[in-house]
Amino acid sequence: MWWIKGATLVDPASGVKAQRDVLVQGENILAVSEHFSEQEVGALANGEKLETVNGEGKYLFPGLIDVHTHLREPGQEDKEDIASGAAAAVHGGFTTILAMANTTPPLDNRALVEFVLSQEQRAGLARVYPFGTVTKGMKGEELVEMLDLAEGGAIGFSDDGRNIQNSERFRLALEYAKLTGLPIVSHSEDVNLAQGGIMHQGEHAARLGLKGIPASAEAVMVARDLLLAAETGGNLHLAHISSKESVALIRAAKARGVKVSAEVNPHHLIFCDEDLTLTSTSLKVNPPLRSAADREALLEGLNDGTIDLIATDHAPHTWEEKARPLAEAPFGITGLETALAAVWQHLVVPGRLSIERLVQAWSTAPAQRFNLLGGSVKPGMPADLVLFDPNWRERIESETLYSKAQNTPFLGQELQGFPIWVWVGGNAVLQERRVVAR
Ligand code: DOR
Repeated sequence: MWWIKGATLVDPASGVKAQRDVLVQGENILAVSEHFSEQEVGALANGEKLETVNGEGKYLFPGLIDVHTHLREPGQEDKEDIASGAAAAVHGGFTTILAMANTTPPLDNRALVEFVLSQEQRAGLARVYPFGTVTKGMKGEELVEMLDLAEGGAIGFSDDGRNIQNSERFRLALEYAKLTGLPIVSHSEDVNLAQGGIMHQGEHAARLGLKGIPASAEAVMVARDLLLAAETGGNLHLAHISSKESVALIRAAKARGVKVSAEVNPHHLIFCDEDLTLTSTSLKVNPPLRSAADREALLEGLNDGTIDLIATDHAPHTWEEKARPLAEAPFGITGLETALAAVWQHLVVPGRLSIERLVQAWSTAPAQRFNLLGGSVKPGMPADLVLFDPNWRERIESETLYSKAQNTPFLGQELQGFPIWVWVGGNAVLQERRVVAR
């Protein structure tokens, strides 16, 4: 039994932001109270081994849930595998991660979905739920056997990394997915508008002499996706929204009653196109870092609820690939181990995002949206918990990262605000910043 004592509990699901003691027994939260006495806890433990963690000066919140990670297994385990991704997750405060389907081969059949789940069991750290693809081979044409994938444990469907250009197919996918009750996650990008682009199309791209990706490459497809969701009543989630035009489209659609959710990535909230240099390949992402005005619109959208969730889009690549010239390096930034600290330092500390909204958008809302365990700290719920130290400072170094990849712009930098203890289903998988296998 665990007694987490005296931390400030932040649990938007129960409207609590106050000092609380939390007791964990077995896999679940046993009790939450302003204060427990030694006698009360002793009686509840009833001879069971009791471990106490002092939470004074720290925040306790439900484990973060990241709905957008790329784990690369099967097929590209030199970049990441399920075990290294799950370790990176708990090191960064995530108790659940959703794995994208653009592996090699893509997760377009039930056997591969079940394979990911069996690897998750072997790793035994964070909970990992795989997406299935929407189309076979992610070719954008023939739909997968969605019902079969759903039975195998797929949490939703996504061709993320590629867009389904054929609108008739996308419409059919939204219709067909209704039979499963699971969402379609759209990588909204018009490939003809984006073709050959390296970064956001704007003055900075012109100065660097690089081909740009216009904001319309995203917004055109966001508009299409919203129209099709409205027409079909389909279950749509929009991944990695990056532009102010998209935010405006989503806001208007929600005002019309269209059922849709959207996510924003930390890097789009923290950086902008001006931060990209010819050598900063870790900032080469798709969709690209956009203008400072886009960044402001994303934060406004997150704060007013137009954007529902934060998700990392953790996209590991090898050092060799990211050491190539900017034009040739692959798109992607890692995030699992740095995103929470970065959002804390860049947005929460300056007062631009509240801690309640952070936890709501990265734990409560993802649990509700994807129908997952966790997302709140209430008796009887699974004990997926994070004890977060707002004063813990750490330099991001390759030796201390659990991810196999290092394509993070924070490498060599010191960040402040880290999870120090993490429990998944009552197991303390992170103890004093060290990942402990079950
Ligand atoms: O930057 C990105 N990297 N964006 C994507 O959509 C895919 C991802 C990847 O798989 O590397």
